[in-house]
Amino acid sequence: MNKRVYLIYFSPGGTTKRTVRNISKGIGNADIIEIDMLKRENREKNYHFTENDLVILGMMTATKLFGLPKEVIGALNGNKTPFVGVVTCGNGYYGKSLVIMQKAMEKRGFKMVAAGGFIGQYSFSDKVATNRPDEKDEAIQVRFGEDIYRKVCIDNNIKFNQKLKIDWPNEGGFSTFKCALISAFPGPGLSLPKSWNELAVSDNCIECGKCVKICPVGALSLNNGIKQDRNKCIGCQACNRNCPKDAIKPVSPKLIKSVENVIKYRDKRKEPELFI
Ligand SMILES: Cc1cc2nc3c(=O)[nH]c(=O)nc-3n(C[C@H](O)[C@H](O)[C@H](O)COP(=O)(O)O)c2cc1C
Repeated sequence: MNKRVYLIYFSPGGTTKRTVRNISKGIGNADIIEIDMLKRENREKNYHFTENDLVILGMMTATKLFGLPKEVIGALNGNKTPFVGVVTCGNGYYGKSLVIMQKAMEKRGFKMVAAGGFIGQYSFSDKVATNRPDEKDEAIQVRFGEDIYRKVCIDNNIKFNQKLKIDWPNEGGFSTFKCALISAFPGPGLSLPKSWNELAVSDNCIECGKCVKICPVGALSLNNGIKQDRNKCIGCQACNRNCPKDAIKPVSPKLIKSVENVIKYRDKRKEPELFI
């Protein structure tokens, strides 16, 4: 019987989705089922998996898991179900994300069999990690999938003896301090604070409504132009990264300054880190 492989992702900009899809290309003989957790209706379901399934969970990071990990992971119920933890970051650092994901998933009946920290184009600027995952990343991701297939599907081996890394920033002392502080707060996830999340819509907007539809938290509406509810917005950039006219952009001065720094610091290509 073919193994059922579930690709489950929260991927506002699409790089995490591409990453888990690339990994699944290395997994032979499997039925692939995708669950897109940007969709609220999927986060509100209750999924049950068996020990014969394989779950590949992909989430983006910002020191911790970013976005809605409580809802995403809270919808998943395992029963000794093997899972692969996948996190993406914008050529910076994934902090404690993998460690947090392992703990939260294992509490819900899953068993980590492999994990990886990958690079995706930075959510706020196409000048950082441009077009990643690129061809070189894809080759690594497919090979990782082949290794997972061999280990879990052929050798039936679900042991995981790797020590996951905590990936601290190398971007100056303040960043390290900030990450240590963020990591110390309880809870698995982060979102962008309200003082950083303001969006502006340019005249290029054709009011197609794509941003309204893709927003994972219903923070945008189409009512005489696009309107943002800053109390709901988590700052994930799904709207920005999926706008066909490039018409919706973050404008908070604090955020813009921080992105300028990121562009300065993150010019050296980082490579994926695999644990299997
Ligand atoms: C609010 C926010 C904070 C982020 N913080 C970090 C960070 O601390 N370090 C990093 O390397 N990337 C950071 N990123 C970038 C994303 O993790 C990265 O671009 C990821 O590939 C985006 O995944 P997606 O395309 O699936 O949305 C952040 C993105 C957002 C939206």
